[in-house]
Amino acid sequence: LEKMDLPPRPELFDFHGVSMIPCFTDNWENYQNFQARPDDILIATYPKAGTTWVSYILDLLYFRESLEDRQTTIPIYERVPFLEICVPGLFSGKDQVDNLTTSPRLIKTHLPVQFVPKSFWEQNCRIIYVARNAKDNMVSFFHFDRMNKVEPDPGEWSSFFQRFLDGKMVFGSWYDHVNNWWKKKESYSNLHYMFFEDLVENTGKEIEKLCSFLGLSPSAEEVETLSSSVQFDNMKKDKMANFSTTPFMDFKISPFMRKGLLNNRLIQEKT
Ligand code: A3P
Repeated sequence: LEKMDLPPRPELFDFHGVSMIPCFTDNWENYQNFQARPDDILIATYPKAGTTWVSYILDLLYFRESLEDRQTTIPIYERVPFLEICVPGLFSGKDQVDNLTTSPRLIKTHLPVQFVPKSFWEQNCRIIYVARNAKDNMVSFFHFDRMNKVEPDPGEWSSFFQRFLDGKMVFGSWYDHVNNWWKKKESYSNLHYMFFEDLVENTGKEIEKLCSFLGLSPSAEEVETLSSSVQFDNMKKDKMANFSTTPFMDFKISPFMRKGLLNNRLIQEKT
């Protein structure tokens, strides 16, 4: 896709009670019938909550040793396909997942919990959910919608802010998303719920928790190495992780990796 060929920005519409845009619903029936495998790992988030960061960590955990070229030649969004995305006739995330030859398969989704294909639950797949505080999540989403030409037009900050509070965002309300995923832990034990802020504060500790959930046991040294390779500055300059290879994002407006800090004082004071 050349920049000039991009269609007009999409409009939100109601889809089973959640605001969505066509590129995440066009392939609904196909991805609802997705066949998961027991060792698939699903990384679920509300958009802009740290999806890429956790995807990157998992990809290194599983493939750094065995598939070195992978990290330098394949963009993160191909290593960890986005299940529900689809541009009819061009590509679909579901096909990308089906075509993966590595295992475990790492799969990204932003779906609210009630939209997750049932096969993930039936296969008892490991699922990692990442939540980020509402304020930083919203600010990050605003800048993302400014630069990503396949997202709805964010408009002015004040109207975007109101729309966020009303839950009229792609993938619906932030509150419903983080909350309903949280509740799912009661009935589904293979769900690891983690926070972006904890990852900022103590990356090593969060990686250790992730590993224990995944049944991996890296040495302290390996955790240390991994933790430094996934710091913001490293990922920001990594072309295979910073989304600079996508045609529909305008980095002159805002980069994909914008700040990655704790902007919220309340969170900082918590510690
Ligand atoms: P900001 O826009 O606040 O900078 P997602 O991957 O879900 O789209 O989330 C993107 C957000 O995660 C961006 O937030 C990005 O900078 C942040 N991020 C990505 N990698 C990071 C890292 N290694 N350290 C800290 N923040 C990171």
